[in-house]
Amino acid sequence: MIDSALEKLRSWRAEVAVVLGSGLNELSTEIENAGGVSYEKFGDIPKPTVAGHAGEFVLARTGGIPIILARGRVHLYEGNTATQVTAVVRLLAAAGVKQLILTNAAGSLNTTFHPGTWMLIRDHLNLTGASPLAGPQFIDLTETYSARMRTCLESTAAIVGVPLESGVYASLRGPQYETPAEVKMLRTFGADAVGMSTVLEAIQARALGVEVAALSCITNLAAGVSGSGPSHSEVLDVGRRAAGNFWQIFSAAVPKLIA
Ligand code: HPA
Repeated sequence: MIDSALEKLRSWRAEVAVVLGSGLNELSTEIENAGGVSYEKFGDIPKPTVAGHAGEFVLARTGGIPIILARGRVHLYEGNTATQVTAVVRLLAAAGVKQLILTNAAGSLNTTFHPGTWMLIRDHLNLTGASPLAGPQFIDLTETYSARMRTCLESTAAIVGVPLESGVYASLRGPQYETPAEVKMLRTFGADAVGMSTVLEAIQARALGVEVAALSCITNLAAGVSGSGPSHSEVLDVGRRAAGNFWQIFSAAVPKLIA
């Protein structure tokens, strides 16, 4: 059963895959959906428990090019281990994916990045205290997020007319949102956005030689940056409304992303 599910992913022959974050689960009309493979078919992916996170791989096409969309992710804050959180990435790599795009919802630490804006992740701070790697895997993270893919996404965003910021993403374990004091610390550390995902997946992908890009949908100003604090419903709502801009950049970039 497990092998046949992996075979289904592998035989789709997708080189590009996307992990869809909170509020970004709705597929665009620019994407042709050719069927799903439920996460339940794979023993090592826990069931996502958070509203806004479905649990399936979608075999899809854009502009005739096969892609895989991982709808829904699992997080450390659901009680999962770093190994469980990154199972989706290992499966995508085993399915032959060469370029991975991670998406997430994030709070803004940078007052010039407004809710609804997309931010290309240039680098990260892994403050989760966890790693998917064990043993002597001293991998180099000088360029975790591929400069080639970033250039491609930035130039495509300019062509399709979607604003795209660039910045440093800090990941915390959550699930609680940050205190204003933590937000102040993160800003001092040089982070532009904060969230609870993505970094472990990026580390796992790099360890497997998969090229990575990541985009944060800025859904709110982080705690203490403005009057009211973040809420999950606001995160989902802003994510849903901003999703179209992501699909526009993505579908125009896919032919150029394939190395
Ligand atoms: N903090 C952490 N994670 C988040 C936020 C936030 O403000 N918004 C969306 N995900």
